[in-house]
Amino acid sequence: MPQVTPLLTADRLQHRVAELAAEIRRDAPDAELHFIAVLKGSVFFLADLVRALPGTCTMDFIAVSSYAGGTTSSGEVRMLKDVDRGLQGRDVIIVEDIVDTGLTLTYLQGILRAREPRSLRTACLLSKPSRRKVDVPVEYIGFSIEDHFVVGYGLDYDEHYRHLPYIAMLTS
Ligand code: IMP
Ligand code: MG
Repeated sequence: MPQVTPLLTADRLQHRVAELAAEIRRDAPDAELHFIAVLKGSVFFLADLVRALPGTCTMDFIAVSSYAGGTTSSGEVRMLKDVDRGLQGRDVIIVEDIVDTGLTLTYLQGILRAREPRSLRTACLLSKPSRRKVDVPVEYIGFSIEDHFVVGYGLDYDEHYRHLPYIAMLTS
């Protein structure tokens, strides 16, 4: 198993996620927000985000695959599991773990926008701006990081390390 080096502590994550929740609510004070979390990497982020969010919300889940066990994107995005409910007239927030090349979010925003939500915004815990291949709008970003492969707090390397309560770099 590769070695990991801590990058963002559990405390920093909690603090920043609470700030994001407050910001999201400030931008939509009266909306019943409908969160769509991208499985599996964003589940811890979603759980902390909605519990820090003032007011009511609903949740759904979607799964896509763009990686085949490695650390680089194949560029091909495939839907593995669709959401359960329609989005028409809803105020939707996509919840994603990390935006890297931007290909996954571009695909997701395209298919979800086609379902005519009233609004569609995106919250991403992490961003690696230096790796972007397509310019994709992300309204809420937790942390911008350097080009390291990171794991923990939901993020995996070949399905391992998701359980870590902090974010770490894979140092092999
Ligand atoms: P993109 O399509 O290249 O933006 O990739 C987004 C997806 O790649 C994310 O949802 C993650 O699942 C995965 N990913 C990108 N960078 C990392 C990383 O550093 N650690 C773990 N997963 C990553
Ligand atoms: Mg992902």
